[in-house]
Amino acid sequence: MAMHTLTPDELLETTRSVRKRLDLTRPVEREVLEECLALAQQAPTGSNIQGWHFLVVTDTAKRAALGELYRKSWYPYNARRTAAQTTERQATQSRVVSSAQYLADHMQEVPVLVIPCIAGRTEGKSSVEQAGAWGSILPAVWSFMLAARARGLGTCWTTLHLTYECEAADILGIPYAEVMQTALIPVAYTLGTDFKAGPRAPLDTMVHWELW
Ligand SMILES: Cc1cc2nc3c(=O)[nH]c(=O)nc-3n(C[C@H](O)[C@H](O)[C@H](O)COP(=O)(O)O)c2cc1C
Repeated sequence: MAMHTLTPDELLETTRSVRKRLDLTRPVEREVLEECLALAQQAPTGSNIQGWHFLVVTDTAKRAALGELYRKSWYPYNARRTAAQTTERQATQSRVVSSAQYLADHMQEVPVLVIPCIAGRTEGKSSVEQAGAWGSILPAVWSFMLAARARGLGTCWTTLHLTYECEAADILGIPYAEVMQTALIPVAYTLGTDFKAGPRAPLDTMVHWELW
């Protein structure tokens, strides 16, 4: 398996949300996924608790069921979002929406769906506890996504299936009361490996030195 020769900066700059360029026809080897997951395990966690769980779904029927849940959440979400947007914002977002619609339509065809979970639930918890939980899964998942990109795989952070987290837990046998799903990451080889930096606001609009 040839590794891409991206520098660390290039990797950080070009790890995009990949949707239309996911290769839906090429299977992903289990060993490659395990390499990415082992690298994800090196991420930090609050109190070094390491409460991660990664559910890797390749089964056709389970992917189809997750795709259904995702779309059940996507359609009302997209309708609400479109209604709330100004014309200007709609224009800038139209590429993202077209890409997101494509992913919604094809979710079940993506060869691998990874559901990162964390032990414990955040409902009713203080913001410190919530930050501890979310902050203990997000770095690991992003490491997984970076490691995937370094191996020619594309990923996209998605959260919409969580509207139906309970139903997804039933489909996958996840103990809902003890374990919280945090995302649904489609994983596939990319069609081409060249990706660009994304559009971002100037740094000084969001960096505050010493004082807000
Ligand atoms: C917390 C979070 C939730 C997201 N949820 C979704 C989602 O449900 N569906 C989707 O298609 N993209 C989702 N995205 C991807 C964003 O749309 C994407 O990161 C953004 O448009 C910027 O594009 P880039 O990642 O290529 O820079 C999510 C990203 C984050 C960080």
